[in-house]
Amino acid sequence: MERDDQRADDGHGGKANDFDGEHELQIRMLNAFRAAVARGDDKATLAGLFDNLIEFTTVHFMSEQVLMRFYSYPGFDAHQQEHDQVLEQLDEMDARFRAGDEAMTAAVADHVQRLLVEHIGRADQALATFIGQQATAGAGE
Ligand SMILES: [Fe+2]
Ligand SMILES: [Fe+2]
Repeated sequence: MERDDQRADDGHGGKANDFDGEHELQIRMLNAFRAAVARGDDKATLAGLFDNLIEFTTVHFMSEQVLMRFYSYPGFDAHQQEHDQVLEQLDEMDARFRAGDEAMTAAVADHVQRLLVEHIGRADQALATFIGQQATAGAGE
């Protein structure tokens, strides 16, 4: 019995857990950008780090949304709205640092970090739990 549960975790459940690594990387990229702003790195360096962050975040959000659709996740709309909110704040950060407004860039970055950490701990955790339950439910077939 335990053996079957283990196998279910290695299937779809494992897929949900893959996001843990992506979340870690997402926060690490945000921190790398913030550290570069604090050091006063040149604009090209900042732009490169910011592009990494925005590209990775966009792809990560898309893959979560694909999974939510696949599993007909009931919280899809609310979850997607939070993703859109984070992306809007990232656009704001982008505008600030391009305008050379370092203090505001740092302030918006603080806000994005709080949004992301809270989102990961609540919305993403709820999604991972839901997908884990779906995978377990389907494992008996
Ligand atoms: Fe996520
Ligand atoms: Fe998410």
